[in-house]
Order: sequence, then C-alpha cells, then structure tokens
Amino acid sequence: MIQTLIKNEPVIAEKKASYPKKKNNKIILEIKNLKKNYKDVCAVKNISLTVTQGEFISIIGPSGSGKTTLIRCVNRLIDATEGEIIFDHKNLLHLNNKELRQARAKIGMIFQHYNLVYRLSVIENVLHGRLGYKSSLRGLFGVYSDAEKEKAVEIIDMLGLNEMIYKRCDQLSGGQKQRVGIARALIQDPKIILCDEPISSLDPSSAKIIMDYLVRVQHDLGITIIVNLHQVDVAMKYADRILGIREGEIVFDGSPSELSKEKINEIYGTETGELILD
Ligand SMILES: Nc1ncnc2c1ncn2[C@@H]1O[C@H](COP(=O)(O)OP(=O)(O)O)[C@@H](O)[C@H]1O
Ligand SMILES: [Mg+2]
Repeated sequence: MIQTLIKNEPVIAEKKASYPKKKNNKIILEIKNLKKNYKDVCAVKNISLTVTQGEFISIIGPSGSGKTTLIRCVNRLIDATEGEIIFDHKNLLHLNNKELRQARAKIGMIFQHYNLVYRLSVIENVLHGRLGYKSSLRGLFGVYSDAEKEKAVEIIDMLGLNEMIYKRCDQLSGGQKQRVGIARALIQDPKIILCDEPISSLDPSSAKIIMDYLVRVQHDLGITIIVNLHQVDVAMKYADRILGIREGEIVFDGSPSELSKEKINEIYGTETGELILD
C-alpha cells in the first residue's frame, strides 16, 4: 500500500474532491468525558469526541489551551485524571502493560522537536518505530527482520530521504528530521497518527512539505491524522475537520468552511483572532 504514495505531486485539490469516496463511518477513536488535572491546573475539562477512520483533524487553540495534553492523553504519554479513551474498541485506560504496548503500536506520534536519536542514522531511527512490536530484549539489541528493514527502506524512499538513509540524524535539516519522524510513525503500520505542532520549528517551505506528506498519508493510506497546530490558516487549508479548544474545552467542532472569523475570535479571544485574520 505504501507504494501508492506518489512523491512530489500536489494532492490538496484532488484530495478535497475525492476524499468523501474513501471515507467510512468506522469509529476509530472515542474520547468520553476526558479530564486532566495537573495539581490545581485543569488542563482538559470534560472533552468528548468521536473520530472516524480516515479523518484529517486539526486541533487549534491558544497556547496553554490543552492541545498537547489532550493529544498525549490519547496514547497515554500522559495519564488522564478521569474519562474513557476507546481506541480500536479497547479502553486504553484499562489495559495492562502488554495490551497497552500493542495498542500504542497502532498509534504513531510526531513531535515538534522530532524526538529522534541524533547520533543514530536515519534508518536506525525509522526502525525504532518497530520497537512496540518487540520484546524488550530484541528491541534492546536492535534485532530487526529483513522484512522490517525492507519496509524501512521503502518508506524512507517514499519520503524522499533515500540519499540520507545512513546519515546521522544530527546532519539533517529540520524538515528532513520531521520526515524521519513521519517515516518512524509509518513503519509502525499505524491506524492513527497524532502530531503535536509538527511544523512549529520549520520554515514555511519545509512546513508545506510536511503537511503535504501528512495529507498523502491520510489520503493514500487511509490513516487517521490528528494534528495540533497553532497556524489557523494551515489548519483550514489541510484539515477536513477542525476542533477549536479554549481553556481545556472544545468550543468549535466543524469543517474549515464553518470556521468563521467570529468562531476564531471565540477560540483565541478577540484580539488574537483579529490579528490572525488581518
Ligand atoms: N506537566 C505539567 N504540569 C503542570 N501544568 C501543566 C503541565 N503541562 C501542561 N500544563 C498546563 O496545562 C495547561 C495546558 O497545557 P498544554 O496542554 O501544554 O496546552 P497547549 O498545548 O494548548 O499549549 C496549561 O495551563 C499548562 O500550563
Ligand atoms: Mg502544546
């Protein structure tokens, strides 16, 4: 299926036209009454949300509104205080360690600061995406099958990184590092990829390349994408659905065309909203 991703081809216009054909109504993720308190700070206040397979969702909201907390609660990088997270028919909050490892293997994660091991090569970092499928001992010794290595090469090629394959990650540009991040998520064979501000450290042209790759991943592989963004214009251009979060609550859930200036002002507070649109 990976081969169906075509490099260097603009897909945004095509995506909007053909996307509904691929869409199904299978629920992949259900968040029910989620709350997260950090001591006296209530970062997420009672969020409920249903995500269907193949959606591209952008979460927007001011700094400190709870975007990172929400997304990290989904794969339990942060433990929620209350609520339920049903992913692929399992409540992630009630799994034992082994079950959680298996569930997490199907959830890719992409970070603002890439979270790569910089002294290791591109292919070694990509293969780290398979660790969730291994016993800790095999993982510790970096034991990967030929099939895993072949898949890593294929994905690296797909992301235009074949010339970098044996380079140490500290020699890559920011955009290339983030492409390694996408490759590491893809080799997990995920059902969903969570991205926390994936383009906030990138220049505009690298940011566009990363967003275009994320669209291809959704469009061609049918993988659900949830991406925290603080750029409203980027969210509107790429997402099928936008969630606006303010003070730990969802205050907007709709399509980009439904996101009016008034709604943006409500999400960000008047002054910021006006600044963004001017
Ligand atoms: N580890 C933490 N300890 C205490 N408070 C935190 C922690 N992480 C986040 N917060 C607080 O939780 C709220 C939501 O933060 P965060 O989820 O990072 O928002 P966003 O990603 O939208 O900027 C903020 O008030 C933030 O200060
Ligand atoms: Mg954040």
